[in-house]
Amino acid sequence: MAAKVITISNQKGGVGKTTTSVNLAHCLALRGAQVLLIDLDPQGQSATKLGMDGEMGAFYFLTTAQSSPAEVVFVKQWVRETGRDGLKIIPGNSMTNSAQMILGVQERPVSYIRDLLKLFVRDGFDYILFDTSPSVGGLQERALWASDLVIIPTATEFASLDALAKTAETLRALRDTKGWRGGMMGILPTFFDGTRESKNSMDDLQSEFSDKVLQPIHKATVLRECWSEGKTIFEHAPESRSAEEYSALAKAVLKY
Ligand SMILES: Nc1ncnc2c1ncn2[C@@H]1O[C@H](COP(=O)(O)OP(=O)(O)OP(=O)(O)O)[C@@H](O)[C@H]1O
Ligand SMILES: [Mg+2]
Repeated sequence: MAAKVITISNQKGGVGKTTTSVNLAHCLALRGAQVLLIDLDPQGQSATKLGMDGEMGAFYFLTTAQSSPAEVVFVKQWVRETGRDGLKIIPGNSMTNSAQMILGVQERPVSYIRDLLKLFVRDGFDYILFDTSPSVGGLQERALWASDLVIIPTATEFASLDALAKTAETLRALRDTKGWRGGMMGILPTFFDGTRESKNSMDDLQSEFSDKVLQPIHKATVLRECWSEGKTIFEHAPESRSAEEYSALAKAVLKY
């Protein structure tokens, strides 16, 4: 069976994209799925949040567009073990910026990343997750187009609804004008803290996106601590509410 491709996207920075990518990926793996996380953000933080180093795997994945057996083997070498059963990663680093520029110059089609997945890594995985950078551009557009499902983390503690509207608009445009066949799984409210501002944001989200609003992830110090430990929430604090909340997200993905 072909892998289901999920992109975690929001052009707003610091809303929990990488936290969601890493913890969702690990939880799916803990539940027995074979998961590949691909870091398309030049900040390379998917790897560091797993306690690993950023590397130029994403650069080679994006720029080795030939299909000779040697090149396929070369790109597959950048699929790294994470030391966690069922979870592998193609790490990124600042060279991903160069890959984005090269793609632009080469005028690659919107289907480019989906084609690369077929070429290099699609077989053998149940889920492929893309973590993306807080910006718009050819890389994001092609990653979104490659995905069956999109999850949009949205911070409820500070105004990030404008960026959400733009990201949702990008999805609509991809569907209406570029033949994208995937769908939005949902908006994932993050940094939820029960304050009036958070609750107002949730109300706004629900009136605009109704059943597309997923169960929120509360603001929690343990999620911040995971960063410095290089651990996922399931390693650092498996009994925490944050772990429960990310498990609920993984269950929703598995059912989808
Ligand atoms: N629910 C949460 N509660 C508390 N801290 C959180 C939560 N989610 C993420 N964080 C912390 O907030 C910071 C930003 O999160 P993260 O890196 O996941 O966001 P991002 O959207 O990937 O950022 P960028 O746009 O820069 O890639 C990190 O330090 C992370 O540990
Ligand atoms: Mg990030």
